[in-house]
Amino acid sequence: MNNDLKEKAKEVLNGNYQEGGFTIPSKNLYPFQWKWDSGFIALGYAHYDIEKAKKEIETILDAQWINGFIPHIVFHNDSDTYFPGPNFFKSELSPYASKKYRSSGITQPPVFGFVLEKIYDISKREKSVLEFIERQIEKVYLNHLYFYRNRDIMDEGLVYIYHNWESGTDNSPIWDGIWETINSPKYEFKRKDTDHVDASERPTKIEYNNYIHILEIAKRYNYDDKLIAENSPFLVQDPLFNSILFRSNEGLIKLFKLIGGHDEKINYLEEKQAKGIQSLNKKLFNQNLGAYTHYDLRNNKSIPLISSSSFTPMFCGAPDNEIVDVITKTLIHKFGKPENYLCSSFDPTNNNFNPSKYWRGPIWINLNWMMYQGFKRYGYDQLAKRIKNDSIELVKKNGFYEYFDPRKTELEKRAYGGDNFSWTAALILDFILEK
Ligand code: SER
Repeated sequence: MNNDLKEKAKEVLNGNYQEGGFTIPSKNLYPFQWKWDSGFIALGYAHYDIEKAKKEIETILDAQWINGFIPHIVFHNDSDTYFPGPNFFKSELSPYASKKYRSSGITQPPVFGFVLEKIYDISKREKSVLEFIERQIEKVYLNHLYFYRNRDIMDEGLVYIYHNWESGTDNSPIWDGIWETINSPKYEFKRKDTDHVDASERPTKIEYNNYIHILEIAKRYNYDDKLIAENSPFLVQDPLFNSILFRSNEGLIKLFKLIGGHDEKINYLEEKQAKGIQSLNKKLFNQNLGAYTHYDLRNNKSIPLISSSSFTPMFCGAPDNEIVDVITKTLIHKFGKPENYLCSSFDPTNNNFNPSKYWRGPIWINLNWMMYQGFKRYGYDQLAKRIKNDSIELVKKNGFYEYFDPRKTELEKRAYGGDNFSWTAALILDFILEK
């Protein structure tokens, strides 16, 4: 039934594949390799071209820094269609940076633990895939060690992000209050994103100025995590980032057990996982709102706003059934009205909701995919199915875009951002082909 869609999804992925053995998220708008994109992309490839799936992972992990950090962008190639590029980021400022690749100096959610687990399952537990995993898994483990050693300053099992781009949810209204606490000087720079996409669908100029400002601070400290933790005006514990870390811990634990002989690493991860889940439920679950929320570590307060990230702890199995019941009601009540597709990236009942602007409201297929996994995990099959069906319908009717308008009313335009977007294609493939 979805054969056409499946073939088109493969065309999108194959069309974005680059000679250097990596896949760009979307032509012109994102002309390099992005960290969490590459994980989702590999998952899509695993359904029809396992060699490309392996290559995608191998290539991104090859750019790991010696302290375990994995940058959010690897600049394999030159391109003048994107800002900020390698000459802005100057990853060489860090003594840990890769000598082989130029990269950014911020990271993105650690997806590879669960991606490796899924790829192994998709391959039907193929021996050669497990051998591939054995060759790569230490790098992924080292990335988790990096987070626990450098980004868990309170020893809570929760890690911080120091830039909104690290969350992946770039211009979410979640960050608006933080921008108000920062007095960024005016920088001279030329954005490129609005050459490719209508400015109304992208972050504002003032927001970009703030993004640049926090990067300038990190560069001033040569990307030193300790100094960044002490000095960056942006320091947040994000439920999405941590839930992905925990789901990836699960993946690593499962795979290390399969491989055998890694008891110490398994114990370490299990200990961090238990502590992290406890802290997530204690610190980031907001009883009054009936949702998980972000915590602003710099200003020592929780951010009482609901976004699609608020529902991702189900993906890693963190909440107990009572909490799941509460957050499901919140989701249905605020995000799940019959006139809307699931699931907006930001609370549609909030004044700052914007259905067409990047992470301020539109639907993103990767968030839908994680929420789908989460609801399935807890046996909420109908709701999971609704999320999956909405995702497929949006793409079928509008194409493999980057993000989608949640309103079901007649609209002149419903799909926004980059066209032929890789993770949309990869995850639609997974939705269609999952067993
Ligand atoms: N997503 C960011 C951008 O829009 C960077 O990671 O460029």
